[in-house]
Amino acid sequence: MPKRNSNRLDAEIISDFLKDKSIRPFVYDVIDSTNLELKRRIQNGDIKYRLIAADKQTLGRGRLGRSFESPEGTGIYMSLLLIPDNMDNVLLITSAAAVAVCRAVRKLTAVKPLIKWVNDIYFNNRKICGILAEAVPDRNGKINIILGIGVNIIAYEDTFSEEVKDVAGALYTSKDEIRVSRNELISAVANEFMDIYANIGDREFLTDYKRFSMVIGKTVRYRDNGIWHEAQAVDIDGNGGLIVESGGEIRTLSTGEITLRLV
Ligand code: BTN
Repeated sequence: MPKRNSNRLDAEIISDFLKDKSIRPFVYDVIDSTNLELKRRIQNGDIKYRLIAADKQTLGRGRLGRSFESPEGTGIYMSLLLIPDNMDNVLLITSAAAVAVCRAVRKLTAVKPLIKWVNDIYFNNRKICGILAEAVPDRNGKINIILGIGVNIIAYEDTFSEEVKDVAGALYTSKDEIRVSRNELISAVANEFMDIYANIGDREFLTDYKRFSMVIGKTVRYRDNGIWHEAQAVDIDGNGGLIVESGGEIRTLSTGEITLRLV
């Protein structure tokens, strides 16, 4: 029986909690980036382990070339290897992952995180989780997807740098509040994601995506090609795009380049 309260990352405990036993986890104390490590393994043809997790990342990577601060022992930093049969639904993967993280956190803790389109997760108006999916060809040219997820579990006053400390948050601000082990949370996120991924094409997860959205029904500002626009966020379309309305005109925002702010 897994030791549920152990806070040390442990591949065996993670594996015990995983539903799909073919996903073998590998854990590092320190790594540059779990996404980069999985990329190296894919390119070397070494894909025995499909889940890489680390206690600390020295070069955690975010979207749009940003970094993702990943201090020791305070979060979960994980990458999952996906080998899709075709590219039909790959654009849904980050939205599906956002729902998986919310479901896992809501099942294992009392925290109720929300999704800020497109794939950031917020709690108490601070970003507590980032998701970065990257496509990487293997040695035969087949596209593999690396799904990287970072969740901040605890933030002390000095956990984050000046640069992000006003935006970054965590599930908890005191150690005493923590009731969940990181091993269990890593497995729960992977389990929830794989459940969705098995039937991702049916798009059923979008119902929860909308339920967990902190954007729908709100006035938002978005920057498109350097110009800011104001609109009402009204819905999510079947591809995870954000439908906005302004002056009777409907538009769907779907590119990764759009910066969105709540007004
Ligand atoms: C973002 O918010 O822009 C995305 C952040 C993604 C961070 C995770 S942590 C695990 C994995 N390894 C990385 O280097 N990045 C992702």
